[in-house]
Amino acid sequence: MLDSAQSPLAIHHGEYMNAELLQLAQRMPKAELHLHIEGSLEPELLFRLADRNGIRLNYPDVNALRAAYAFNNLQEFLDIYYIGMSVLREEEDFYDLTWAYLERVHRDNVVHVEIFFDSQAHLDRGIPLEVQIGGIRRALRDGLAQLGISSKLILSFLRHLPEAHALETLALAQPFLDQLDGFGLDSSEIGHPPEQFARVFARCRELGFRVTAHAGEEGPAEYVRQALDLLRVDRIDHGNHSLDDAALVRRLTAEGKILTVCPLSNLKLRVVQTMDRHPILTMLERGLKATVNSDDPAYFGGYVNDNYRALIAHLPVTREDLYRLARNSFEGAWISEEAKATYLDELDRAFATDRRGARDMSRRVAGRAI
Ligand code: ADE
Ligand code: ZN
Repeated sequence: MLDSAQSPLAIHHGEYMNAELLQLAQRMPKAELHLHIEGSLEPELLFRLADRNGIRLNYPDVNALRAAYAFNNLQEFLDIYYIGMSVLREEEDFYDLTWAYLERVHRDNVVHVEIFFDSQAHLDRGIPLEVQIGGIRRALRDGLAQLGISSKLILSFLRHLPEAHALETLALAQPFLDQLDGFGLDSSEIGHPPEQFARVFARCRELGFRVTAHAGEEGPAEYVRQALDLLRVDRIDHGNHSLDDAALVRRLTAEGKILTVCPLSNLKLRVVQTMDRHPILTMLERGLKATVNSDDPAYFGGYVNDNYRALIAHLPVTREDLYRLARNSFEGAWISEEAKATYLDELDRAFATDRRGARDMSRRVAGRAI
C-alpha cells in the first residue's frame, strides 16, 4: 500500500488543501496587534526619506541595505532598526511611513491595526512628540476614511533605557494622551526584565490606559510572569517562552490572555530555528490565545499574510486554526464590544462563504484526481 506521502491522491489533496487555506487566510478579515510602525519602513521609502531630508546613508543602495538584514538575534536587528528610523524627521515622514503600511495591509484584508511607535528613540534625536504623533495619527485617520481600517496607537517604552527615561516620556506625552490608546514595552529583552518598569506601568494604568509588554521573545518564562504580576498587562507580545512553564501556560489560558505571536520575526531573529518547529499550533492546542502578526515586516520578510503563508507551508495548519487565529486577533483588540461583534460577524461570513466554495472545489478536484 502506498503511504500518504507517495499517494497521488494525497498529493492532490494536500495541494488543494494548501491552496484553499492560503486563499482563506488571504481573504479572511483580520486584525494586526503587534506592529512597530518603524519596522514597516521599506528600504525604498527609507532611501526616499533620506534623500528628502538630506541624510547620507552608509549603504549605496536598496539592495545593499537589504543584504544587511541578516540577524543572529534580537540585538543585531535592533542595532540596524534604530539606524534605519533615523531618516524620520518631519511630520510628513511619519505620515508617509504609516500610510504606506496601511495601504499595504489593506491588500491583506487587515481591517484593524494596533501599532507601536518608539517615541523615545525619536525624542533622543530631537524629534518632538507632536511631529511623531501628528504624522502617524493623520495617516491613521486617512486609513479609516479611505481604506476603512480602524486603529489604535500604542506608545512603547524602550527597555534598554532606564525607567526614569520612560517616566519623563510619559510626562512629555501628557498633552497627547487623548491621541494614545495604550502603552507597551519593547527593545532588548534579556537583562531588562519587566520588574524594572513597574512604576511607569502603574502610572499608565492609573491614567486609564491598556498596557502590553514584549515578554518571552528571547527572555525566560519568568519575564512573562513579571509582565503579568508586576506590569498587569492586558496582552503579552510574543510570549514564546511561556511554553517552558506548564503552570504559566495554565494561567495564561485561564485568564484568556492574548499572545501576539510573530512567526517570521521569530525565524529571522532565531527565536525558532526553522518554521516547521514554530510553536504556534502547540500554543493553540494548549489553549493559549495566539494571534499572527508581522512585528517589523520590512525587516523580517513580510506582512501578516506572508506570516500566514509561511505557517501554512510549514505546519499542519487547519481551517479551524485559521479561524481561531483570526478570531483571537479581534478578541484581543482594544476595541468596544460592539466593534468586536461586527468584526467577528464579518469573519464568520468569510468562513461560511468559503465553506460553500470549498465544497464545489472539492468535487472538481476529486473528479480530476480519480
Ligand atoms: N522593537 C521592534 N521590534 C522588536 C522586537 N521584535 N522585539 C523587541 N523590540 C522590538
Ligand atoms: Zn515587537
